[in-house]
Amino acid sequence: MLQDKKIIVGITAGIAAYKAAILVRALVKKGAQVQVILTEKAKKFVTPLTLATLSKRPALSALANEADGTWHNHVELGLWADLMLVAPATANTLAKMANGQADSLLLTTYLSARCPVVVAPAMDLDMYAHPSTRENLRRLAAFGNIVLEAPAGELASGLVGQGRMMEPEDIVAALERVLGRGRELEGLRALVNAGPTHEAIDPVRFIGNHSSGKMGLAIARELAERGAQVCLVAGPIALRLEHPRVERVDVVSAREMLQACLDRWPGMDCAILSAAVADYRPAEVAPRKIKRDGEALRLELVPNPDIAAEMGKAKRPGQILAGFALETNDELRNAQAKLQRKGLDFIVLNSLAEPGAGFAHDTNRVTLVDALRPPVPFPLKTKDQVAADIVDHLALRLGRAGNMPDPGSVQQAAD
Ligand code: CTP
Repeated sequence: MLQDKKIIVGITAGIAAYKAAILVRALVKKGAQVQVILTEKAKKFVTPLTLATLSKRPALSALANEADGTWHNHVELGLWADLMLVAPATANTLAKMANGQADSLLLTTYLSARCPVVVAPAMDLDMYAHPSTRENLRRLAAFGNIVLEAPAGELASGLVGQGRMMEPEDIVAALERVLGRGRELEGLRALVNAGPTHEAIDPVRFIGNHSSGKMGLAIARELAERGAQVCLVAGPIALRLEHPRVERVDVVSAREMLQACLDRWPGMDCAILSAAVADYRPAEVAPRKIKRDGEALRLELVPNPDIAAEMGKAKRPGQILAGFALETNDELRNAQAKLQRKGLDFIVLNSLAEPGAGFAHDTNRVTLVDALRPPVPFPLKTKDQVAADIVDHLALRLGRAGNMPDPGSVQQAAD
């Protein structure tokens, strides 16, 4: 995937810059042509000589070459690159990128780049959590840049928390995903629902569940990054997703979610239903806060509509409808029954029994159960990677997969 790809590696002045040397080496070993651009202050952490030796090209930092009076053409650099990575990206550089500042070769090149831009932030945990840093990262994501969120762990300061730069091998894997990702879904209209629903008991209480919406947001992002126009119908979740091709519709209850989905479904080519919809709601919503009177409180619950089944009924030929199934027993049989009952084309089967999978985890292990082919089990992966697998399968079902291998046929061959 990286063979002959032209990659700009921007390095800024954080202690994680020492890992950038390992990163450059890994990219070169994979056949990439790497052009390093450092900020002046980054040179205090890692030397241009090290980076030039590893990348086999001079490592640039100044706008002009004082020695021979020439200038380093940021426009040409920006057009040359197939991908620009900034790793580590400090809070300062992120702020400048988010605000269009152009006082270094790295920043002018960023503003000139037409290729995908990936940032791997690294800083201390409080800087990373600061609202201004969060806002800058959101702005960069809204420009269409890809943010590799810093994982939690031990930091150079000795503190423990989120802020360490993603490990070089994980950054390389992320770049392979970005470069391997086509624009095969350009023009596709996709609906994704995500998160829980809250069913009111009274004005202050509700019935809900632990769904974080992470999986659905990862799917929405993946679809948008491959060119689809996405409508994200989100239940009450704290997570945000900024992307120029994602329109978000916020809902609270299952009935609101049903309405939002059904209203938009006729104009869509496909839908992925990842929401953890509450199956029941209180028969009555008390108009005032229910007072505690020491007696047992009985709530009568009535069934909620099944959004997937309603969309399945309204499906027109050519539309692809996919759902999720969370099962604890007889997983495949139950998933296949759900597929039929709800009129789905494929279902992503989750097992709660799997360590590291399910609610609030960053990882998931799924099996794709498709009406037209044998089930395809996947290993434990990050939710972003699972989202990529699901979208690969969707692209295949929509006849937009290009020359991607068919996971079903690979599986059959392995059988
Ligand atoms: N779903 C839905 N509306 C509901 C319940 C579920 O649209 N009221 C969707 C989910 O978004 C998911 C799929 O149906 O895509 C399966 O959800 P799941 O909770 O596994 O199935 P249920 O139909 O609720 O069946 P059960 O809880 O009995 O397993």
